[in-house]
Amino acid sequence: MNEDKRLYYLHKMGIQAWVPKFSDTDQVVDQASESINNEVQRAVVDLEELNSKNNNAESFDGLKKIVASCTLCNLHRSRTQTVFGVGHPAADWLIIGEAPGADEDRVGEPFVGRAGQLLTNMLRAIGLAREEVFITNILKCRPPNNRDPQQNEIASCRSYLRQQIDFIQPKIILAVGRIAAQSILNTDTPIGKMRGKKYTYEDTKIPIVATYHPAYLLRSPQQKRKAWEDLKYALEVKELG
Ligand code: URA
Repeated sequence: MNEDKRLYYLHKMGIQAWVPKFSDTDQVVDQASESINNEVQRAVVDLEELNSKNNNAESFDGLKKIVASCTLCNLHRSRTQTVFGVGHPAADWLIIGEAPGADEDRVGEPFVGRAGQLLTNMLRAIGLAREEVFITNILKCRPPNNRDPQQNEIASCRSYLRQQIDFIQPKIILAVGRIAAQSILNTDTPIGKMRGKKYTYEDTKIPIVATYHPAYLLRSPQQKRKAWEDLKYALEVKELG
């Protein structure tokens, strides 16, 4: 029986039938946004492939030079300089944040502002000096007005992060903040649910532990206790593998 007939008989029986309220316009909009999402996804995959094929470095310093002249996304237009990362090139600990802010863009080093000072103190609390870890970000260029990184920007930078990890071969990765954790792990799981779990990086066995971003901890100091638990957990994971 077709739908119109079914509704007619139900009506005759005095039964109010539920009719979906989708109009043609809703369906067109849904289809259009699905196809735009697919396009974006395809473009992101293309960007990642392009970068990983064309920007392979032979050394850590070589990689830094490649990053310094990167023009893959629009952020190169507004940056003062790229922010490659700082610390020991063979560190056991790799700390990954989101993106450079205004201070980092000016100085050329990650985590040098207020959030950076807190991060340095957090590391010190577990016996780590800034010089013995390596600190970097998902993005190597500052997004204007400190907005969230966009998908194409993360995709453009993805192979740089992969190469940094391949060169450093850290024993543990500490992802600080939602954006870092979600983009390294390709997930949209909320940061609160990622805490206290051990993940691994792509096809490697390198463990990843996620914690809150120090900028968030500055705004919500009552969460510092949880970050402290995360750091102790990361220490444990690093020791046990
Ligand atoms: N926030 C980040 O995620 N990274 C920095 O380098 C500075 C602030």
